[in-house]
Amino acid sequence: MTIIKNICCIGAGYVGGPTMAIIAQKCPDIKVTVVDINEKRIAAWNDEDVENIPIYEPGLSEIVKEARGRNLFFSTDVDAAIDKADMIFISVNTPTKTYGIGKGMAADLKFIELCARQIARVAKNDKIVVEKSTLPVRTAEALKNILDNTGNGVNFQILSNPEFLAEGTAVQDLLNPDRVLIGGGIDTEKGKSAVDALVDVYAQWIPKAQILTTNLWSSELSKLTANAFLAQRISSINAMSEICEKTGADVDEVAKAVGMDSRIGPKFLKSSVGFGGSCFQKDILNLVYISKSFGLNEVADYWEQVIIMNDHQKRRFAEKIVKTLYNTVSGKKIAFLGWAFKKDTNDTRESAAIHVADYLLNEHAEIVVYDPKVSKERIYADLEALGSHSSEEIRDRVKVVSTAVEACKDAHAVAILTEWDEFKDLDWKAVYDDMLKPAFLFDGRRLLDKTELKKVGFEVFVIGN
Ligand code: UDX
Ligand code: UDX
Repeated sequence: MTIIKNICCIGAGYVGGPTMAIIAQKCPDIKVTVVDINEKRIAAWNDEDVENIPIYEPGLSEIVKEARGRNLFFSTDVDAAIDKADMIFISVNTPTKTYGIGKGMAADLKFIELCARQIARVAKNDKIVVEKSTLPVRTAEALKNILDNTGNGVNFQILSNPEFLAEGTAVQDLLNPDRVLIGGGIDTEKGKSAVDALVDVYAQWIPKAQILTTNLWSSELSKLTANAFLAQRISSINAMSEICEKTGADVDEVAKAVGMDSRIGPKFLKSSVGFGGSCFQKDILNLVYISKSFGLNEVADYWEQVIIMNDHQKRRFAEKIVKTLYNTVSGKKIAFLGWAFKKDTNDTRESAAIHVADYLLNEHAEIVVYDPKVSKERIYADLEALGSHSSEEIRDRVKVVSTAVEACKDAHAVAILTEWDEFKDLDWKAVYDDMLKPAFLFDGRRLLDKTELKKVGFEVFVIGN
């Protein structure tokens, strides 16, 4: 049986970085090298001060500190790492295509293909190639084709091992996952042996009963299915939030009542200004695209509705702000507390805040943002990427400050876009005193106590109430 001694991971991002750090921590006998074409990112992973690693995840810097230089390495020398590895994880990003066939829906697989070609070119001995990135069903087939047809005659085994970690809780999710899923060619000896080799890596800290093995296609599709189901729950509760606002029901009370049904369960029923993150939208669009390509139009429409609902939720939150502020926000200062797509991460991909800000910029609002972990340049880049406002206009109308109190000073309204814990501890009375009156507060995360805020003097709108 193959015993893994040397792992390479291509892609030092939100998934590759934390996952490899945990493998290195838990498997001291395996040398783990994480490579990336982004030199700045690798330099940050190697920064002497572990607090400067490029990804913020609670508990991650301590693990990197322990394993880095021992059996965990970060490098830009992709060829060398591929050459030495027995097992190669591909963890590069697979964004939604922005051009050509499948634009706006299909996953862009160009990075995956580049990785496959590079592995094929470099590999001089047998390798196990593991898909970590979320991919459309049957991508493994394309990978295998490229590897076998352009390689040096060595044997490649392809496995699918989708990652289920959520950002902000990556370390805990990796240490105690509900399950680890490994898909492979279990009908051949070599395929089975490759699956066993990866099972043995995880078995060093995860009970075998939680390590699930399936065929490749089930594994690839399971990841898309899991994300689609999770996102669907959020869109479902968000659909209810709008009904709650009309009827006087409270969406948290509804969520609690339905979540106590053990068939439904309590998790992922928090109504919000809309889900963000790198996965949900991309993976559902992917599912929609796959369904359409098989002519399954009803299936496609069914899943697309989850995205339509999410877009609606973001837009209606922004509309609520404009409507409440007497139908005009032109020249008015609106404070944004939070920019990340959820708390405890510096990731802003698909964050609802970006879309709400864009809508308000269309209405000529002045926006002042505070987020404890997101940089000013990231915020500007997110807005510029939407392409609806010029860089000059964005820099003129959007200011980024370093405290919540500063963001709210002299503002007409404050909007909670990310549920950072520190916003709960703010001296809301002092914030209120420094704002223009009437002072409005829009809670897109159901983070704060509405009654308390009203007592302070705020006019409060909470999503779903
Ligand atoms: C991951 C998965 O790979 C993606 O499929 C999943 O759906 C979301 O999570 P993530 O780790 O979040 O992506 O992406 P990102 O933080 O963008 O990291 C990817 C890294 O790969 C980047 O640092 C990028 O520079 C690197 N990369 C990309 C390469 O090293 N080589 C390439 O050819 C392309
Ligand atoms: C998700 C999946 O949870 C994870 O298994 C997969 O590997 C990647 O995609 P992630 O995007 O990191 O993880 O975060 P998640 O905690 O799922 O949150 C996604 C978005 O949904 C966030 O914007 C969050 O605020 C929102 N959300 C989540 C809600 O609005 N309500 C909820 O009840 C839960």
